[in-house]
Amino acid sequence: FHSEKTPSFMVSPAKQIFHCFGCGAGGDVVTFIMKYENISFGEAFRYVAKKAGIDLGEIKFEKENAEKRDMLYLINKEAMNFFIKNLKASESAMTYLKKRVINEESLRNFSIGYAISERDSLIRYLRKSGYDDSIVKDAGLSVSDEKGVRDIFRGRIIFPIFNTHNDVIGFGGRVLDDSLPKYLNSPETTVFKKGETLFGLNLAKEEIKRKGHSIIVEGYLDTIICHQYGFKNAVAPLGTALTPKQLLRLKQFGSNIIIVFDSDDAGIAAAKRSLTTIFENNLRAKVLLLPEGEDPDSFLRKKGSQEFIKMVSNAMSLIEFLLTTSKQDKIDTVKEALEMIAVIKDLIIADELLVELSDRIRISELALRGELRKIKKKIRYSESGLFKKEKKIENKEEYLILSAIFSFPEKVEYVLSRLDLEKLRDKTLRSLFEKIRNLGSRFDLGSILDKADDEEKSIITELSLKPGFDLENVDKIIDDCLQTIAQKRFDEKIRQAEESGDVTLLNLLLEEKRKLLKGQVIL
Ligand code: UTP
Ligand code: MN
Repeated sequence: FHSEKTPSFMVSPAKQIFHCFGCGAGGDVVTFIMKYENISFGEAFRYVAKKAGIDLGEIKFEKENAEKRDMLYLINKEAMNFFIKNLKASESAMTYLKKRVINEESLRNFSIGYAISERDSLIRYLRKSGYDDSIVKDAGLSVSDEKGVRDIFRGRIIFPIFNTHNDVIGFGGRVLDDSLPKYLNSPETTVFKKGETLFGLNLAKEEIKRKGHSIIVEGYLDTIICHQYGFKNAVAPLGTALTPKQLLRLKQFGSNIIIVFDSDDAGIAAAKRSLTTIFENNLRAKVLLLPEGEDPDSFLRKKGSQEFIKMVSNAMSLIEFLLTTSKQDKIDTVKEALEMIAVIKDLIIADELLVELSDRIRISELALRGELRKIKKKIRYSESGLFKKEKKIENKEEYLILSAIFSFPEKVEYVLSRLDLEKLRDKTLRSLFEKIRNLGSRFDLGSILDKADDEEKSIITELSLKPGFDLENVDKIIDDCLQTIAQKRFDEKIRQAEESGDVTLLNLLLEEKRKLLKGQVIL
């Protein structure tokens, strides 16, 4: 689900669960698909069923988003067709695209359109086609202003944005002149998440598979012109920095990337940020730096594809890039390189880079490895002591007793009979124990996962994947935990009595505590 510096994702085929020790996500296969694909339970269930070849027949799921999503795909497609029709009829828009040398084939491949300058032409068109104003708004195609609702896109060239299944999920729109903002994107909707989408990936995915690498450029026009000049493996993020989720999508088709940037300071800084994200996520990348002031669009039109091919084959490795663009002295540059290598989890990639660094700067691998170890140690140190862990350490016995139940579900009745849930300090655990109590004799790992929310799922899967207990000592552990929980709550009461100066209560509590220490569990 995210980048990590140490391996942290665990799957137990036996227990049929997963847990990410990095972010705490956990659950069964359906939960995994929900999180990974960002879809509802019903959709995830259908997805899994389909993979397994199970026919679900007429089953309907509660809260199923599929219909809503399908509706949004449909309305977006309708809007796209409206924009395409408008383009053919607009002389100024066609003239603009000609000026940008976008040919007929590109217009078709990218389904490019035009939103006319009127206030609500799209809204009115969609109304006529039977769409409610509310769904038009949900699709991110309209906004409210003081005069009512109006189209979001007006007087702009429209670039539809597709997911990899070729559904239209959103739009980007460019003005025809120098007015601002130059580009406008659809707002995020149920189906459109900017940080998870790459423009052009629907068209590029096959070519990325075939060539084994993708080209990441910055803009819509860059992507389109790259494709037009034969570089059909080009994609672009949507005006923001590259995200791990976008890389995850890309990785489905190929793990090698060429990133293209302007060679000015801003471009170099941006390239560095992208490289960091890419390597942290176990992909490999090379950098293509264009002459200052150029983007792929302008470069290709000026120099043509042969020159671009040359640039692609001369793209720099991470090390080469850091060494040639660095303005620091050699030692600082080496340190910067090692810091980047230190966060790469794929040890093969990291090692290749280390060897290359050693070759180029003529410092022995041994010395570099020593430095790298130091840097890694520092990173580990700064990552420890997370809040989440502290909470668990503080209420250790509450977690321990829960693990015991997961290992030995037959102990649940005993625990519940002796544990006063009100005494649990951890609120999440309290609600989890309540759910377990409600399940009664139906309690097992699967049934509790079904009832749990995300945070609870995380706890369940984490505890279930930790090394279990032996049957011989589980009873003792349970009793010890019950005892500690009771004792801790007791100590809290004593502290409160002390603070409030209630001597009678304090004496009473201390008396009871003595009994407690003799081994009688207080219930
Ligand atoms: P650029 O400003 O580099 O423009 O933005 P460009 O892609 O070269 O566009 P042309 O050639 O002037 O037409 C790069 C990308 O940043 C996003 C867009 O995705 C754009 O393609 N962007 C830019 C926005 O989202 N909003 C803006 O106002 C500007
Ligand atoms: Mn441009």
